[in-house]
Amino acid sequence: MHDRVLSSEPLVRSNRLAARYPGASVPAISSITFAVESGQRVALLGPNGGGKSTLFRVLTEELAPSSGELEIGVAHAALVPQSERSRLDYPVSALDVALMGSVSRLPWWRRPSRADRAMARESLRRVGLEGEANTTFGELSGGQRQRVLVARALVQDSPLLLLDEPFAGIDVPSAELLATLFDELAAEGRGLLMATHDIEQARSWDLVLCCNRVQIAFGDPAEVLTREVIERTYGASLIPLPGDGPLAITPPHHHDHAEDGA
Ligand SMILES: Nc1ncnc2c1ncn2[C@@H]1O[C@H](COP(=O)(O)OP(=O)(O)OP(=O)(O)O)[C@@H](O)[C@H]1O
Ligand SMILES: [Mg+2]
Repeated sequence: MHDRVLSSEPLVRSNRLAARYPGASVPAISSITFAVESGQRVALLGPNGGGKSTLFRVLTEELAPSSGELEIGVAHAALVPQSERSRLDYPVSALDVALMGSVSRLPWWRRPSRADRAMARESLRRVGLEGEANTTFGELSGGQRQRVLVARALVQDSPLLLLDEPFAGIDVPSAELLATLFDELAAEGRGLLMATHDIEQARSWDLVLCCNRVQIAFGDPAEVLTREVIERTYGASLIPLPGDGPLAITPPHHHDHAEDGA
């Protein structure tokens, strides 16, 4: 738990936010009212197709809100996307991928400087990959590639980190390293919004946002994550267990919306 003083201005805040893909008749997400403050770790729960990645697209301004209010208090949010880890076609080193993070905060005419390269190396160190700086991205394991993408987000140097299922399908040592790193980043004052299918992990974070195309709940996990909220969040993808035991969720399938053509 956090005992530091939180700033009162949220990094991001929304009020009854909705967003619709071009050509779609109904919004992919609606009634989203939440905020992330400096130092907070906010878990985003929802079923496959529940709108988690869509919310990230709105927060990175890739997709415009169709209604409601959205205040983004940062110049840009740093995103670790859901799909990019599986792309093996980066013919570049881990250091080059991390360095791509600097492009988002440089004016177009400036090339990455020595300071940017130092920051990329430092970010690779934070994800435990200083020894792999010159390894080709595609040669790394899935967990290592995910850590490189986290390093790239760190190089963006944003106070707001958006993590789209960062633990999905990665090895245990990578997951443990990232879990520790995310706690450290929050303790340093960054705000984190992380999509996850892991309800138990969400219970250990500061706040939880439950979303099944519409917002189901937002607040302290200890208060919010009731059986009723979990049932409404996961709907048909819940497996009812006999008695009052924990609810099981059908294993989420992982697919890549990147080819859907946003
Ligand atoms: N590029 C797109 N164009 C049109 N519709 C889209 C696009 N991407 C997603 N959708 C639709 O928006 C809805 C929400 O999808 P989204 O990818 O945000 O869900 P998600 O919660 O991230 O799911 P998952 O757990 O599978 O990653 C789905 O109905 C999906 O089909
Ligand atoms: Mg998604």
